[in-house]
Amino acid sequence: MNRSWFISFEGIDGAGKSTHIEGLSEWFKSRGHHVTLTREPGGTPLAEKLRELALHESMDPLTEALVMFAARREHLIHVIEPALARGDVVLCDRFTDATFAYQGGGREFDWGVLQTLEKMVQHVPAHLIRQPDLTIWFDLSPEVAAQRLSKARVPDKFESQPISFFQKVRAGYAKRMTETPSRFAQISADQPREDVWRDVLSAIENAYK
Ligand code: TMP
Repeated sequence: MNRSWFISFEGIDGAGKSTHIEGLSEWFKSRGHHVTLTREPGGTPLAEKLRELALHESMDPLTEALVMFAARREHLIHVIEPALARGDVVLCDRFTDATFAYQGGGREFDWGVLQTLEKMVQHVPAHLIRQPDLTIWFDLSPEVAAQRLSKARVPDKFESQPISFFQKVRAGYAKRMTETPSRFAQISADQPREDVWRDVLSAIENAYK
């Protein structure tokens, strides 16, 4: 492994991706890679401000989609593209699939409009549309996720949505995966942590064959 690599991590709130992303960062570093560990919405000072708005202010669905994509454009141009140009492994906690799942699935916002925005926002030189090389989807039933979230911190705007919302988000991820199946690794997050970790590592190894 000596080339840049862009890996995104997805799943409904409560799927438990954070510890595995941190674990993977250490795993890549111990193998001599430079790692850029980042997240969406966020990853730059401006995009973090947009995150605050997106997670805590109620807004029209198109406005919400535009805020997510505005934050993504900043993040892509100022963090992700430079990191990939340096040859880093970029580990990104959520990327565009989250917009399709949450705004497209959860909010039922127009999928075609999201595809148009995706083409504009992720257009970068030498790539028609920048996409992750691999997307690891931590899949979990909304019922189990809700039990986990009830023990967590004060919920934000999305975390406080009902189970029916997360059923639509999950369906959004599934739809997105059918559009580019080779990019996705779907992992069951309803397993002991060490089994999830084993599946994460095998997804990495399979993708790099
Ligand atoms: P996080 O809590 O995993 O950092 O994610 C932030 C929240 O923002 C999470 O509830 C999912 C939501 N979100 C969207 O609705 N659309 C998006 O495009 C992204 C990146 C996140």
